[in-house]
Amino acid sequence: MLKSIEQVASVAGMLWEKGWAERNGGNITVNVTDELDEEFRSLGPIAGPFATGVRLSHLKGMYFYCKGTGKRMRDLAADPMANGSIIRICDDCTSYEIIAQQPVMPTSELPSHLTLHNYLIGNGYAYKASLHTHPIELVAMSHCDKYLDSTYLTRLLWSMIPETLAFAPLGIGVVPYALPGSVSLAEATLRQIEAHDVVLWEKHGTVAVGTDIMDAFDQTDVLNKAAMIYMTSRNMGFEPDGMTPEAVREVREVFNLPDRRR
Ligand code: 13P
Ligand code: ZN
Repeated sequence: MLKSIEQVASVAGMLWEKGWAERNGGNITVNVTDELDEEFRSLGPIAGPFATGVRLSHLKGMYFYCKGTGKRMRDLAADPMANGSIIRICDDCTSYEIIAQQPVMPTSELPSHLTLHNYLIGNGYAYKASLHTHPIELVAMSHCDKYLDSTYLTRLLWSMIPETLAFAPLGIGVVPYALPGSVSLAEATLRQIEAHDVVLWEKHGTVAVGTDIMDAFDQTDVLNKAAMIYMTSRNMGFEPDGMTPEAVREVREVFNLPDRRR
């Protein structure tokens, strides 16, 4: 099995353990193009073509492992190739075919995932993986107007523990509620991922990109941990003080943190 797909299986298990993956909740896609040999590339489709619903001008001929729609993360952890498939983007850049191993239809959030991959590759970034999941605390916060202000939410989360800023220096973007799987959700997500490490979908979940799927998981985990610390403090009956703006600034300077994607 491809190294990146082995890693998908272990991350899928972690998502289930964390309680972020009820039923078929969440999805994963990974660009596996560079890991495939000539023999695999010569394989014909086993299903398709199917429309993606979006134009992917930078993804022509590329291969992605995708969680299957309706499939459970906990099942994927045990058998990723029975609960997901490898697709290839067709030459028309708007459709895909399923290449291996079984004709498992990819996740319903494919428009969002592929739109992000298209943007990342088009801009020369090294990101290969995209993760959508349902982290409990961040989703809970997205039910309150106050926390749907991206700048406010980002500052609040950064101030909970220095590592949040160190590992998520671009913070969290917010997308107002949109229908799961829709192209409008994909377009709004793209606008937010350009400037943020993680995107919060109101009353639904998060999206993160990473150099691999573990990296995308870590981005989500770091921000959700800050949300957990905030909520634990509130549950103890007080509003957390948070690090001072000076302390936050010091972390940014000492660690030489970027303020945009690199
Ligand atoms: P899929 O089972 O189609 O991947 O959908 C899960 C999900 O979380 C939709 O937002
Ligand atoms: Zn979802």
